[in-house]
Amino acid sequence: MAALFLAGCGVRSSVVEETVVPERREIVVGFSQLGAESDWRSANSESMRSTFTAENGYKLLFEDGQQKQSNQITAIRTFIQREVDYIVLAPVTETGWDTVLQEAKDAGIPVVIVDRMVDVEDEDLFTCWVGSNFELEGRKAAAWLKRFTELQDIPPEDLHIVDIQGNLGASAQIGRTKGLERAVEENGWDLVAAVPADFTQAKGREVTALLLEEHEEINVIYCENDNEALGALEAIEAAGRKAGANLKEGEILIISFDGVRKEALQYALEGKISCIAECNPLHGPRVRAILETLEAGKVPDKLSYVTEGIYSGDASITQISVDGVNYPVTILTDSFIS
Ligand code: AHR
Repeated sequence: MAALFLAGCGVRSSVVEETVVPERREIVVGFSQLGAESDWRSANSESMRSTFTAENGYKLLFEDGQQKQSNQITAIRTFIQREVDYIVLAPVTETGWDTVLQEAKDAGIPVVIVDRMVDVEDEDLFTCWVGSNFELEGRKAAAWLKRFTELQDIPPEDLHIVDIQGNLGASAQIGRTKGLERAVEENGWDLVAAVPADFTQAKGREVTALLLEEHEEINVIYCENDNEALGALEAIEAAGRKAGANLKEGEILIISFDGVRKEALQYALEGKISCIAECNPLHGPRVRAILETLEAGKVPDKLSYVTEGIYSGDASITQISVDGVNYPVTILTDSFIS
């Protein structure tokens, strides 16, 4: 409660007015993060932690699921028991959430899904979702590859591609794999293999090393995130091959996703990674805006897609097109990265 004393000059009587400033209650948010597999994930966790602070009026209960859906389900049940105000879920995979989301709904706790999506029978089991259009990311990367190889006069049947996938069943894997498969079908490219590497650098290196031993013809590696791309690059160099866009000289072209880790952007500038489709991890303020909408008694959009770009160090393509929509390609420079 604050008291405001107004004493006007030359006014004999003093006016005392009391203004009641309502204390904003602390909002308790239970966040089930799926893990810590990549630089993207670390940036995403940091965005949530730095947004849902005591100064901003929140108490954040942060649980790391360590890539296991069972851990995430346990975390959600704990949040329900603790009667949090909101549950935020970044799901490791899409399916298997119906029961626990029904429990949250029965407890009257709104659930906001962030980053990857859930595949549930009843869409009312969650309040809303915010994240990336992963299939569009894949289609943009494939559109860049098509344009680039056309400009280089490389026939489609000469592209021998491997897809280093994310963890199977995650929206980011499903969408990016679909985006590539569609382009393979449309362009007549050779998809040699698709192997999961769980979005990690170590697995990216391991599976790429095996694939390069088995298939000498591989000349494009489509990595479903930057950590896998860094691992693939290590494997290429360990095998005595060279990463780059000069396919006619036997180089191996790497495509990647995220654009979060500085090192990956630096390699893109140098041409070791040819193209990176952006995936934006800064969801903290977006989720906060949703919770504020709910606090105000309003209804947020059910699905919110983040606008994302595409990066390359090669200046020959400044724009790509998907379904008749043009997307600018950001040509990387030193100043962009530093
Ligand atoms: O779901 C987003 C994806 O998950 C990011 O591309 C990847 O780096 C992360 O692990």
